[in-house]
Amino acid sequence: MPVRLIPRLPAVALGLAAATLLAACAPRPQRPHEVVVAPALIPAPARLVAGDGGFDLDAATPLYADGLAGQQAAHRFAALAAASNGLRLAAPRAGGPTPGAIAFVRDPAVSSEAPEGYALEIAPSGIVVRAADARGLFHGATTLWQLVAQAQGEAMTLPVLRIEDAPRFGWRGLMLDSARHFQSVDEIKRVLDAMAMHKLNVFHWHLTDDQGWRIEIKRYPRLTEIGGCRIPAGDGGIDPATGAPVPYCGYYTQDQIREIVAYAAALHIEVVPEINGPGHAQAAVSAYPELGVLDTPVPVLAEWGVNRTLFNVEESTFTFLENVLAEVVDLFPGRYVHVGGDEAVKDQWQASPRVQQRMRELGVRDEAQLQSHFIGRMERYLSTHGRRLIGWDEILEGGLPPEATVMSWRGIEGGIAAAALGHDVVMSPVSDLYLDYLQTDAPGEPPGRPSMVTLEQVYTFEPVPAALPAAQRHHILGVQANMWTEHTRSFARLQHHLFPRMAALAETAWSPVEARDYADFLARLPVQLRRYRALDIAYAQTPFQALATIDGDRRDGSARVTLRNPLGYPIHYTLNGRVPHAGSPRYTAPLDLRLPVQLRAAAFAADGTPLAPATTHAVDATSLLTRRNAELAVCPDVGRLLLRLEDDGPLTGERAIFNVTIFHPCWLWPAADLGDIDRLTVRAGRMPYAFQLAHDEPQRTFLPARSAHGELQVQGEGCAGPVLATVPLPAAPDADGFVSLDVPLDTAALASRRATDLCLRFTGDTRPTMWVVDAVTLQPR
Ligand code: ACM
Repeated sequence: MPVRLIPRLPAVALGLAAATLLAACAPRPQRPHEVVVAPALIPAPARLVAGDGGFDLDAATPLYADGLAGQQAAHRFAALAAASNGLRLAAPRAGGPTPGAIAFVRDPAVSSEAPEGYALEIAPSGIVVRAADARGLFHGATTLWQLVAQAQGEAMTLPVLRIEDAPRFGWRGLMLDSARHFQSVDEIKRVLDAMAMHKLNVFHWHLTDDQGWRIEIKRYPRLTEIGGCRIPAGDGGIDPATGAPVPYCGYYTQDQIREIVAYAAALHIEVVPEINGPGHAQAAVSAYPELGVLDTPVPVLAEWGVNRTLFNVEESTFTFLENVLAEVVDLFPGRYVHVGGDEAVKDQWQASPRVQQRMRELGVRDEAQLQSHFIGRMERYLSTHGRRLIGWDEILEGGLPPEATVMSWRGIEGGIAAAALGHDVVMSPVSDLYLDYLQTDAPGEPPGRPSMVTLEQVYTFEPVPAALPAAQRHHILGVQANMWTEHTRSFARLQHHLFPRMAALAETAWSPVEARDYADFLARLPVQLRRYRALDIAYAQTPFQALATIDGDRRDGSARVTLRNPLGYPIHYTLNGRVPHAGSPRYTAPLDLRLPVQLRAAAFAADGTPLAPATTHAVDATSLLTRRNAELAVCPDVGRLLLRLEDDGPLTGERAIFNVTIFHPCWLWPAADLGDIDRLTVRAGRMPYAFQLAHDEPQRTFLPARSAHGELQVQGEGCAGPVLATVPLPAAPDADGFVSLDVPLDTAALASRRATDLCLRFTGDTRPTMWVVDAVTLQPR
């Protein structure tokens, strides 16, 4: 990018013309202020040309606005500047560019070929934001605010520059799952605020699923009365004092939805509601059993995964869905309605004589075509009401009306196939854009899916596949990141998952290919963190921490410590217990240290500020005897589904977190030194086995149990090696949800006790619960 660093000029060192203009203004009081040197904008603008000198901005700087769109942009800029910098600007006056002022001006000449575009000019004599429409002015105001928020305090010098900017894609989306866990209206607004700050413009709102129906439908009140509540699995759903069920409930009233839609509209964000079918329908079926395939009633689901409940295909069910869509269309004025269509395993349709009879009546060949019929009915209703249907890529199966738009989630292949068939496409692949996947391998990550979607993956994802013929590329409307919330119970954790990956998404969605540069993005990111802090956005700390891998030998008293920062920022450390600073030793290679080790480390931005609080790594001969869950490895060949799960209790307060491979729970302590060890203490927790695996269920395996409640089995030399211990489990854990097991080891069969891979598993089919390893401690003789 042609960004030139701007020299630190005193604010008065301006050109002659500027000086003349400024002379016309009232003299300003001299105050200390920060000079914004290199613009660090996210998303990177399409074109930025830096000049010399700067514009002095403080509370006395007047705002001028042209028309309603200019007023709105000026108000937004002022509100953001007040929130981030405490800068109190006077209300905008009507008018255009004025010496010493900031003006927001409508100019049809800007971005006639690039919707949402704007131009921002900062000159010593004043600032002008120009755009053809309200959206462009809004984005220009956001960019200008980003420069203000790059500085701290109420007075600053902004660099002379010219930006010409417009988005690469018209669909810059975020999906939020409000069904699995519910966010308050205020929390949704904060997500929308953050989206606008990142120039995202589509909020895909996942409002219905097996585990909850979250949108009030006046005609069908049981959808929210019944479908809006579930009894969480395990202790999280029981009052320990009374034993009474404790439901997890929540829904948005229609008034609240209107409020959110209006709030989003003011931020130029379109809300796309999702009403999912024919699968992910259990909450609706629990409320109105006549919508389902089976005769037996079902509860609102309290398990995660792929569930078999489908809507039936009676005409009365289509009438129900159309009545729901009628209210949805009334509430959401945007172009698109999302109808889901994902993960509808067809077992119930296949097994139901009634559904099979309906298939014959409808003249459809198979269940895939029946799903196509189902989606087709939704499409017909929506198109006759002036809306466009969008759905997950499974809607392609069995045929799809050409007007339908496809959201490609299982990869990019669905998107490529859809574009070839002439459908519009939003790219949203699980491999790169699912934000419930963890962003680092730090032990401090919250619950989620531990296969990673790193910041770099979000950043480098290319929405227009090279394989797509040029003539089909216009079908790629844009990109979207998806935030599923099975494992995200709190707003703090939601923010952890969203930020800073939303910044990477912003650039993938907005910036032209030529302006995308991951190293440059990382250099700009610390400034974005400053903006996050100024607006109370609780971004993830883990990508900015110094993580340690400690390979210690407690018997010879040595330890090799490897430090890394997930994003590659430089690390400085201390060994004396002090907080490291940029002048502390810089980490360049693994450290060979003597025990005990007291190491503190932090990653630093280029200007020497720490990116996150220092991490502390204290290791001695005793601490090396214990490995907690997050420090244990995953056993090889235990199936693909590793989850980081939160314990089910206690009902209130902190809960433990466990890494569990749910197809075959198994934990490994690689190269454990058993030289002087005859027994272990294993602390085990118990949690609900709350998963529906549908067609993957047969892959779930259990070791045979030998006693009533199964055993903890410990093996050496890996999971195929000699059995060192088999310890019976109790019927239930202690009141705190854990048991501590004394595990005598029979190590006679080990070839060597010095470095053996300890494998820990529980036997028996323990469903509906499962035991998990919380910690393993070696007990020396
Ligand atoms: C999806 O992740 N099931 C769309």
